[in-house]
Amino acid sequence: MRHPIVVGMQYGDEGKGKITDVLARQTEWVIRFNGGNNAGHTLWLNGKKLVTHSVPSGVRYSHAKNFIGAGCVIDPLALTKEIDELKGAGVSLTPENFKIDYRAHVTLPLHVALDAAREGGSHGLGTTKRGIGPTYSSKTDRIGIRVGDIVEGKAFDKVRFLCQNYNSYLKALGSQESSESQNLAAVESALETFRSFVSRDPHPFYEIAKKTKCVLEGAQGILLDIDHGSYPFVTSSSTLPAFAAVGAPFPLTGLGAVIGVCKAYVTRVGLGPFDTELKNDVGERIRKTGAEFGATTGRPRRIGWLNLDELRQAVKISDCTHLVLTKGDVLNGEKKLGLHMNGKLEMVDGWSECVEKQGSQNLSPAFDKYIQIIEKFIGIPVVAAGTGTDREDLVWRNFKAEQFWS
Ligand code: GDP
Ligand code: IMO
Ligand code: MG
Repeated sequence: MRHPIVVGMQYGDEGKGKITDVLARQTEWVIRFNGGNNAGHTLWLNGKKLVTHSVPSGVRYSHAKNFIGAGCVIDPLALTKEIDELKGAGVSLTPENFKIDYRAHVTLPLHVALDAAREGGSHGLGTTKRGIGPTYSSKTDRIGIRVGDIVEGKAFDKVRFLCQNYNSYLKALGSQESSESQNLAAVESALETFRSFVSRDPHPFYEIAKKTKCVLEGAQGILLDIDHGSYPFVTSSSTLPAFAAVGAPFPLTGLGAVIGVCKAYVTRVGLGPFDTELKNDVGERIRKTGAEFGATTGRPRRIGWLNLDELRQAVKISDCTHLVLTKGDVLNGEKKLGLHMNGKLEMVDGWSECVEKQGSQNLSPAFDKYIQIIEKFIGIPVVAAGTGTDREDLVWRNFKAEQFWS
């Protein structure tokens, strides 16, 4: 059996959480393979909103199990808070339905402090200040702390060593040091959470992938990839679907469809180039209608027209097979829409309603025409279009979700 991977085709926040939630209806496992709590995935159901950060987006179904893979980083204090918030919303994570790979790296207060200190200086990138970059740095520097270290009680010496390293760095930046006791306390408090959920299986999906449906959920977007994104204005992990095999880990031959999620326009949080950015009242209107404020930091998202040159590049680099276009409803009523193609901005017709009539499962001809321009330019089919925030607000175009598993 081959299993689909959901990834963002732009700069994050494309609506991956919603699509993963839709697919989780028919899967046993939902697996995150990169990033940490820099992610914020919003799930709407019957007027109720739920936001996940480190926890995968399969939590809305009682049958689905959720897995945080080896390629992710985890802030234990933030994770404990997230688990509590989910509990408050009626979602109960148990050792049966939630697991964390023992090889995932741990974000400590000192990583968060360093991220914030750097952002305060002249080399800031507009990060989420969740300590993501410093945690991945510790990992590749081979001084990081893994979930398994904490569970096995092997973390304390390592924390002391990390504190020495990072505090000299923090001092050089003129920032307050991160105390050893604060970091040791974080490790102490992480023990209980990690002990309940840790998975020590080195090949967790080797057998599962042969028998049961899984979906792999990427965080961030292709254009934020550490190697292939708009470096240095990127995140610190690989956001490409190919990384799912490594970051889950998942058998390479068990991976199939690459589902690229893309907004009908572009948003970006943080610094970095943005050719089609709209710094005018059209941009303001889209931000307001689309509620374009970060799910993690609350920062206003920058808005711009859809850049098909970038999208085509993202499709190629990710080997994307199916596109899902979200937020068509947000552009309802815009008379003209910009599409950046072959280095030029062209204005095309908009639509008054993205669906034929309220609640209809048919897209309006004008919105469908916009989708056809995209399909033609990027060379892969747009199999579904988002027409509202709810899980049900998704119109399939001659396609059924079951077809993602082959
Ligand atoms: P993710 O990080 O890719 O999971 O996306 P986020 O949850 O951070 O941001 C996407 C936002 O768009 C959320 O507020 C979603 O509720 C919302 N959303 C997703 N699809 C649609 C859609 O088709 N229409 C509208 N109006 N909102 C959508
Ligand atoms: P989801 O999974 C949007 C952006 C930050 C910043 C850059 C580096 O919700 O799509 P980092 O904290 O990772 O070091 O920040 O990446 N960024 C995101 N933007 N959605 C995300 O996640 C993001 N995760 C990181 O704004 O520009
Ligand atoms: Mg998000």
